[in-house]
Amino acid sequence: MRITVLGSAAGGGFPQWNCNCRNCAGLRAGTLKAKARTQSSIFIRPDAGAHSGADGVLFNASPDLLAQIRANAHLQPGRGLRDSAIAGVVLMDGQIDHVTGLFMLRERSRPAPERPGGRAPDPLPLWCTDAVAEDLTHGNPVLRVLTHYCGTTHHAISLDGAPFSVPGAEGIQFKALPLDSKAAPYSPHRDSGEPGDNIGITAIDTASGRRLFYAPGLGAVTPAVFDAMASADVVMVDGTFWTDDEMITTGVGPQRARAIGHLPQSGPGGMLEVLARLPATTRKLLIHINNTNPILDEDSAPRAELARAGVEVCEDGMQITL
Ligand code: MLT
Ligand code: MN
Ligand code: ZN
Repeated sequence: MRITVLGSAAGGGFPQWNCNCRNCAGLRAGTLKAKARTQSSIFIRPDAGAHSGADGVLFNASPDLLAQIRANAHLQPGRGLRDSAIAGVVLMDGQIDHVTGLFMLRERSRPAPERPGGRAPDPLPLWCTDAVAEDLTHGNPVLRVLTHYCGTTHHAISLDGAPFSVPGAEGIQFKALPLDSKAAPYSPHRDSGEPGDNIGITAIDTASGRRLFYAPGLGAVTPAVFDAMASADVVMVDGTFWTDDEMITTGVGPQRARAIGHLPQSGPGGMLEVLARLPATTRKLLIHINNTNPILDEDSAPRAELARAGVEVCEDGMQITL
C-alpha cells in the first residue's frame, strides 16, 4: 500500500490564521526554518495502481481537503467528467479539523442517463464509530446537512477489532482500536468520554502483511495501544504538543495537552518514551502537530532530540510505501 500524508498539522494548521506565536510569526517572516502544514489527514491506496489512478481511502476529511486534493494529483485521476480517487472516508474522531472536509465532497455524483441532466447524487461511503456518527448527527449535524447534497452511506466501525475493508481500495484491511482521547469540544460527552470517540487504525496490506498504525489523537498508551504500535512496521501518532503545558507557556490558551486528549512528546511518560520501547525496525512518525510545537522549527533542540531518537516529523506530501 501507499500512504500519502495530505496534511500533518493539528487543528488550525501551520501557520494558524490568527496566530503570532514564535513559530507562526517566524514562518510568515521567513526567519524560521520550517514548512507550512495543512490539517491532518492521510490517504491510503493499493501500491499496484500507484501510477494508474488507483482508488484509496481518505482518513479524516480536513478543512483543507480541497487544497490537499489539488496538491496530490493522484486523488483526482480524471477518468470521467466527474471523478475522484476517494473510494471512501474513515473518521478517527468527530473533531472539526477531521470532519469539516466532508462538506467539500458534497458534489459527488454518478452517471444516471435516465435522469434529467444525466446524473444523480452519489452517497459518500463513510466509516465511523457509532459515537462519532451520533455527534455528527446532533452536536455538529454534518451528516444531516449532507442529506441535502450527495448524502452518506454510514458503515459502523466496530470496536472489537473486526477487520473491515473499503470497496474500491483492494488489498488493504483496516482494524480499529478505541483510544483514550477526547470527543470534540461541541460533543455532549466531551467530559465523559465514550468508547469510540477516538480510534486508532491499523492498516494492513494483505499481500505483504505490512502494517501501519495511525492515531493522530492519542491521550494515553494503554497495553492494547502499545501492542498495536509494536506490531506495526510504521507508526504515525499524535505529535500535537511537545510539553503538557505548551499552550500555557506560549500564551495561546489555558489548556493542558493531556486534558484535551493529547499525550505530549517530552517528559516522563511522554510519547518519546513510548516510541523508544518499540522495535528498532519500526519507522516512527509524528503527525497532527500543533503550530506551537517547537519540533516544527527544524533548527530547534527538540527537533534534534527527535532525530537522535529516530523519530520523524510528518510533512505534507510525504509518501510511504509499505
Ligand atoms: C484537537 O485535536 O484537540 C482538536 O482538533 C482541537 C480543535 O478542533 O480545535
Ligand atoms: Mn485535532
Ligand atoms: Zn502559532
